[in-house]
Amino acid sequence: MKLHLEGLSSAFRIGGWRPHRTRGFRVPVIACRKYTTGSGRESTSGSKLDYSFVTTPIFYVNSRPHIGHLYTSVIADAYHRFQKIRHGESRPAFLYTGTDEHGMKIEKAAKAAGCKSVADHCDSVSSEFRDMCDRFSIDYSDFIRTTESRHKDTVSHFWRELKNKDCIYKSHYEGWYCVSDEAFVTDSNVTESSDGKKTKISVESGHPVEWTSEENYMFKLSSYLPDVFHWIKTEKPIFPEKFEGTLVRWIEEGFQDLSVSRPHSRLSWGIPVPDDPSQVMYVWLDALVNYLTVAGYPFSGSNSSSLNFWPPTLQIVGKDILKFHGIYWPAFLIAAGLEPPRKILCHCHWTVDNKKMSKSVGNVVDPISLSEKYGTDGLRYFLLREGTPHSDANFNEEKMRRLLNAELADTLGNLLNRCTAKAINPSQIWPVVENFDENQISIHGKNLIKSLEELFDKVETSYYGLNFYRGLEHIMATVRLANLFVEDEKPWVLAKQSPQNPRLLTMLTIVFETLRTTAIIMQPVVPNLSTLVLDRLSIPNEERSWSNIQPLLWNSGRNASNKDLGNFKSIFYARVKQ
Ligand code: MSP
Repeated sequence: MKLHLEGLSSAFRIGGWRPHRTRGFRVPVIACRKYTTGSGRESTSGSKLDYSFVTTPIFYVNSRPHIGHLYTSVIADAYHRFQKIRHGESRPAFLYTGTDEHGMKIEKAAKAAGCKSVADHCDSVSSEFRDMCDRFSIDYSDFIRTTESRHKDTVSHFWRELKNKDCIYKSHYEGWYCVSDEAFVTDSNVTESSDGKKTKISVESGHPVEWTSEENYMFKLSSYLPDVFHWIKTEKPIFPEKFEGTLVRWIEEGFQDLSVSRPHSRLSWGIPVPDDPSQVMYVWLDALVNYLTVAGYPFSGSNSSSLNFWPPTLQIVGKDILKFHGIYWPAFLIAAGLEPPRKILCHCHWTVDNKKMSKSVGNVVDPISLSEKYGTDGLRYFLLREGTPHSDANFNEEKMRRLLNAELADTLGNLLNRCTAKAINPSQIWPVVENFDENQISIHGKNLIKSLEELFDKVETSYYGLNFYRGLEHIMATVRLANLFVEDEKPWVLAKQSPQNPRLLTMLTIVFETLRTTAIIMQPVVPNLSTLVLDRLSIPNEERSWSNIQPLLWNSGRNASNKDLGNFKSIFYARVKQ
C-alpha cells in the first residue's frame, strides 16, 4: 500500500483533531492536558511541554537482566537526570520503568523454570529487574508491573475506549505468530530456517513461528496508518533519523488490521477482554498501555492523585521493538484520542565479541557480576561512552577494563589526586585567584580554558540529542588537557618553593574549576562518582545544577574566595587489574 499525504484528511477523525497552532496540519486533541505550570500558565496541545516524562520499555520477565536491559535503563536515567539538573525543581521530571509479565512467552518460561506458579516466577524475575535498577542508581519515579491491578484497570478502560470508538471488531484471524517476539508475522516475513530442519522462522528476528487460526478481536490499524504516517513525517518524533526511514518504509509496505486478543483456551496468562472472558488481550496492547497506567490514565483532571501529564516527552526503545512503539502505539493512542509521544529514541544493540547476545549462544553478560569488579558507575560510564544510538556496539571486557582505567582512573582520578595531594596542597584549600594573567600560563593551560568555556554548550547539545558518548568525549578531552597543563606547571616543584607560589595557586584555581565543571556535567552519567568529586570540592548540593556551571568561577566573582576542601576517604576510581 502506498500512502499519499493528500489522502490524509479522510483519515482524521472529526472531533479528535484540531489545527496545529502554527504549522497548519492537524494534531489530536488530547484528553488530559490539565497541568498548570509553576507560573500558572496552562499547557496546551502542540505547545512546549513544561515537564519531562521519560520511559524505558518494560522488561520481559522470561529471563534475567542483562547489559542490553541496563543500557536502555541507563540512557533513560541519564536523560532524566540531565533534565533534572538542567531545568531544576520548577519543571517536574518523571522516569518510568517496570516489567512486562503477561503472554505465552512468560507462561512458557515459568514452566521451563519449574516454578510453582507463573505469578511466583514473575515476582522473582521482576524483583531482579527492580534490584538492577536500584543497584545502578536508576532514579525511577515508579516501577510498574503489568500484573498489578492498577494496570489491569487501566488496560480494561483503554480497551473499552477503543471499543466505544468503534476501533475494535471481532473476526477470524489466520496467520503466523512468533511467541518469542509475541508478534504476528506476515507470510512475506516468514522463511525456512537454514539449519536443515525446515522450521518456519520470522525473517526479522530468526525466531520460530507457528500457524494460528482463531477467533480474535481486531484493531483497525490499517485505517490509522495515514495518521501515524503524518505524525512521523510532520512531528518528526523518531530519532536517529534512519529509524524514521525504517518506519516510513514499513508503512508504505502496508499493515493489515492487528489482532489484539487471543482465545483464552490458547492463552490464559493475560488480562481478559472486558465483557468477553473467552478472550485475553494481546500482550503488546497490554504492555504498551503501561505508559498510560503510570501517568494516571484515565485522566480526570480533578483527581489529585492522577498526575495528568501526557504525552510522554521521551520514550526509549531498542531497535527490535521499533514497530510496536512507532506504529502500533501511536495508532492506539490516536484512535483513543490521545496525543502520541513527543519523541522516541530508538537505539541499536550490544553484541558480545561481535555476536548477537543470546541465551542459546550462552554469551549473555550479567551486569551485576560485572559491577562487582568495575563498579556500578564504571559500567554506566562504559555503556554510555561506547554505546551509540545509531549503530550496534560491541561488548568486550578487556576493552572495558582498559577504557575505565584510562579515563576514570588515570585521567579524571589522576587529576583529582594531583591537585588535592597534601604535598602540593598542604593546607587543603581550593584557592580562587580571580585575576590571573592568561599570558603567564602554558599553551595547554590556554587551550584548557578555551575548552572549558566551550564545554558546556557542546555537552548540552550532545545530551539533548542523547549522544552521551559525544558529551563524554568532549569532557575527557578537557580533562586530558588539564593533566597536560599540570605537567607543564610542575606543581610539585612550585610547592617546594612555596605553597603560596602565585603560579601554583593559579594552576590550582584552573584545575579545581575544571573538576567542578566536569563533575557537574557528568552527574547524569556517573551520579555517584560525580558526588565523590563534588563532595571533595565542598560544593553544596544547591550548587550542583546546570546553571551553576557558567560563568566559570574565577570570572564570576561568585564564591571567589579560598575554600577548604571536603573530606575524602576513598579513591575516586581504583584501577581494575586483569
Ligand atoms: N517487553 C518488551 C517491551 C515492552 S514495552 C511496552 C521487551 N522487553 S525485553 O526485555 O525483551 O527488552 C527490553 C529492552 O531491552 C528493549 O528495548 C530491547 O531492545 C533492549 N535490549 C534487549 N537486548 C538488547 C541488547 N543486546 N542491546 C541493547 N538493548 C537490548 O521487548
